[in-house]
Amino acid sequence: MRPEVAFEVRLIAIPSVSLKQQNVNVKATISMDIPKLGYWGLLTTYIKPFRRLFYLLAILVLLNIGLQIANPLVVRFFIDSATDQSTTTQTLTYAAIAFLILATIQQLSAVSSVYVGENLAWSSTNLMRHDLAEHSYNLDMSFHKVKTPGEMIERLDTDISALANFFSAFVLRVTGNSLLLLGILVVMFYEDWRIGVPFTITVIITMILLTYFRNIAIPHWEKAHEASAEVFGFLEERLAGTEDIRSAGANEYVFQQFGDVLDFRAKKWKRAWLLNFLVIRSIFTMNAVMLIMAFGIGYYMFTNSLITLGTAYVMVHYTTMLGRPLREISNQIQDLQRAGGSILRVQQMYEIRSKIEDGPGAELPDDALEVTFENVTFSYDDEKDDDIILHDVSFDLGAGEILGLLGRTGAGKTTISRLIYRLYDINAGAIRLSGIDVRQPTIDQLRGHVGMVTQDVQIFRATIRDNLTFFNNSVPDDRIIEVLDDLGMTEWLDRQEEGLATMMESGGRSISAGEAQLLAFTRIFLQDPGLIIMDEASSRLDPATELLIEQAVDKLLRNRTGIIIAHRLKTVQRANKIMILEDGRVKEFGNRLALMADSKSHFSELLITGMEEVLV
Ligand SMILES: Nc1ncnc2c1ncn2[C@@H]1O[C@H](COP(=O)(O)OP(=O)(O)OP(=O)(O)O)[C@@H](O)[C@H]1O
Ligand SMILES: [Mg+2]
Repeated sequence: MRPEVAFEVRLIAIPSVSLKQQNVNVKATISMDIPKLGYWGLLTTYIKPFRRLFYLLAILVLLNIGLQIANPLVVRFFIDSATDQSTTTQTLTYAAIAFLILATIQQLSAVSSVYVGENLAWSSTNLMRHDLAEHSYNLDMSFHKVKTPGEMIERLDTDISALANFFSAFVLRVTGNSLLLLGILVVMFYEDWRIGVPFTITVIITMILLTYFRNIAIPHWEKAHEASAEVFGFLEERLAGTEDIRSAGANEYVFQQFGDVLDFRAKKWKRAWLLNFLVIRSIFTMNAVMLIMAFGIGYYMFTNSLITLGTAYVMVHYTTMLGRPLREISNQIQDLQRAGGSILRVQQMYEIRSKIEDGPGAELPDDALEVTFENVTFSYDDEKDDDIILHDVSFDLGAGEILGLLGRTGAGKTTISRLIYRLYDINAGAIRLSGIDVRQPTIDQLRGHVGMVTQDVQIFRATIRDNLTFFNNSVPDDRIIEVLDDLGMTEWLDRQEEGLATMMESGGRSISAGEAQLLAFTRIFLQDPGLIIMDEASSRLDPATELLIEQAVDKLLRNRTGIIIAHRLKTVQRANKIMILEDGRVKEFGNRLALMADSKSHFSELLITGMEEVLV
């Protein structure tokens, strides 16, 4: 039995890059679409790629069991020979040597089976972590909105760690120990039925007790793990909001809440462990009963010359041995109970299907894309129809044109960009890129042709290089440096101690908002899409950075179609077309110059009022 602490330690010990490393060698082995997986489904799916390890483990475990049964018989031979006056010393020496050799092989097989088992457990569970991470990552945004990252960590790691034993040992240990149990009983029957019968009965009673306890604990383990997931979720969310929490002076309140969450978890885990303890104790008790029986029967039969002293020894020894397989089986069952909760949750995750299904595949043209919205209606929540965010939005943006998208906060500007990128699917209407419905190409095909700069640029804790290429090693350094230079970032790069290999802080703590924007542009340049959507950050920048950004945007939009969600007049000035959104409806759409010339247009009005006052 593994103590739970070990799981917690593992959780911390696994570096975040492990998924990435795994990525290299396991990606092709398992398909993403895993059908309904039960215990067996999981086991076979994830053991299959490592069958050789599995067979090796099977051999080692069986060898170990065979030797466990054989060794006491050698000792019996030794005892009986020793008590027999006619035996020569040489026979005894041979028996002793045989015992030594068998015992050594037994220990070796035990050690190697642990080694091979751990290997198998880590390989198969890492594969599963990888699959599940990929699966969840590809789920809808609506899924990620309700699941906190902390909760996901608990699923992806703690739950799967609980499955480790199930993978490495469960089947082998349970069948192996059942064989051991059976073997011992057979030998006992073979010695004398009066020994075999009582022991078989006690073993059966113990098994019944075990089966009885088996199902009691599962729901408790499940609740315990859920409580842990909550702790992670709580921590993650509060840590992410440290700045806001502090500035609001909410520290005390948050910590009080944290205490409650911790107490709740402790309560759940205590109950789960108590039940577990009950199972284990019942086996110890039964084993004590069996030992008393062995001594009683052994003494009676030996004094009545029904058995030899050696056989009496074998009986007592086997009885102490009986406890071990029983305990092992019970441990395995308990692990299975624990794993049962985990399997259930892991399975639930697998069963969540993305509402956004991959398109059948269609090649989008490589150059600037035309964007068409045709009576697009959209709500974030399918169930609530009264919560419509976009009403009947239609517009057409020619290839190479630039649309300035304006509207008050909450008007639906960011939503439009998400729809083009297919982070969500629309309720009615159609979105086309150069005549091709966005649901036609696969998600990868689509996103390869659309570049998006969001309001807050995500910076990962990784090197500058990885941050710019999204871990794609095939992009040559020269190309990155060239793009950075093009965007006027050479001076910035020169200031970085290790150039492209400099580590960046997660969340972009080490760079300014303007620099983050420029890095986001660099990413887009490297991707070279035919349509660019820019959700302009509303933060104000210093004039020098602003100039750099202006120039970068100019370059970025050259020969590409652009949709700029603008907060500043300067940005709007590069647009050919203007669209003003209000409460999810198109209030105005037209050529910028024409709208400017028309003094009655909303756009002109905006310009007069000062759009920065109105829109920011
Ligand atoms: N993930 C979401 N789930 C549910 N509702 C959302 C979601 N994102 C945005 N909304 C709602 O949709 C509406 C439009 O939001 P959107 O982010 O598109 O506005 P916006 O025009 O980009 O505003 P801003 O100028 O502040 O960025 C808002 O009422 C918002 O509350
Ligand atoms: Mg927005």
